[in-house]
Amino acid sequence: MATHIPVLLEETLVLLAPRPGGIYVDATVGGGGHAEAILERIAPGGRLIGLDRDAEALAAAQQRLARFGPAVVLVHANYTRLREVLRAQGVEAVDGIVMDLGISSLQLNDPARGFSFQTPGPLDMRMDRSQPQTAADLINRFPEDEVRRILREYGEERWAARIARAIVRARPLHTTTDLADVVARAIPRRHWPRRIHPATRTFQALRIAVNHELDDLEQALPDVVEGLGDGGRLCVITFHSLEDRTAKHTFLCLSREYPSGPGPSTRKIWTGTMPAPRVRVLTRRPVVPAEEDIARNPRARSAKLRAVERVRVEPNG
Ligand SMILES: C[S@@+](CC[C@H](N)C(=O)[O-])C[C@H]1O[C@@H](n2cnc3c(N)ncnc32)[C@H](O)[C@@H]1O
Repeated sequence: MATHIPVLLEETLVLLAPRPGGIYVDATVGGGGHAEAILERIAPGGRLIGLDRDAEALAAAQQRLARFGPAVVLVHANYTRLREVLRAQGVEAVDGIVMDLGISSLQLNDPARGFSFQTPGPLDMRMDRSQPQTAADLINRFPEDEVRRILREYGEERWAARIARAIVRARPLHTTTDLADVVARAIPRRHWPRRIHPATRTFQALRIAVNHELDDLEQALPDVVEGLGDGGRLCVITFHSLEDRTAKHTFLCLSREYPSGPGPSTRKIWTGTMPAPRVRVLTRRPVVPAEEDIARNPRARSAKLRAVERVRVEPNG
């Protein structure tokens, strides 16, 4: 099985600037690629706390990071619980946090996980297999208009209505390839996207819905920032426009640089009463991978990195 090549690794290290002896968090530890590079830079004396909602990813990370011994602690948790995890580890504030969103090659390449339309597998798509709802539940039970909304909102799929109708007619669907066929047949062939499989957007949308990816990100970011000590840095790598928009808006909002007031994705965190900026934005524009990195690792194609630095907040700020 192909291993996961970390995306924007060097660029992340430059912005995170890990220092020996520091305490760092990898909130999406996955196969441990970013975590390993950080651990190499924070010795001696540094600590890394790694989170993942996928128990299998944690087992892979455990193996890769075993040589760092007690410098690394891995916890099975959603990053929405990051501050709770830190408190349980007796940590008040950290020097840096990395979030590399989306799925890993380990997840994508395992047919049993149901993320890929290339090989038949169950319609699962749960990152956390202890969570009850699978993609099959959603595909086979949700009303047509809800399926359509998910495809339109999370997949930005212009053929959402046709695909939703075709899915409802073909139910029950059991495998990823069955679903991919239904989607491909619902889109007129002359409108198939040129560079991607016609089911790519549908699969992305279902994955986001099954794992509540956008809600989790929106909810977590303002709180994650509060886990940084003064001058601590947060690096977020996103893989599609909706995630990137959420990161960008949240950071502008927390830096109080938001140019035109809160938008839909910032409304929940914008109280209008936040008296002082929480962060300074380090990336005016997102950092994107070099052409050669994309050639080496196609998963990097849509990656964007944004970073912020925590600014000192006065006790009543
Ligand atoms: C792209 S991979 C990370 C790869 C890692 N940086 C590496 O170099 O090996 C993303 C990981 O984040 C995990 N993940 C996604 N959403 C999460 C969440 N809300 N909480 C915790 N982990 C999450 C996924 O299970 C997956 O293992």
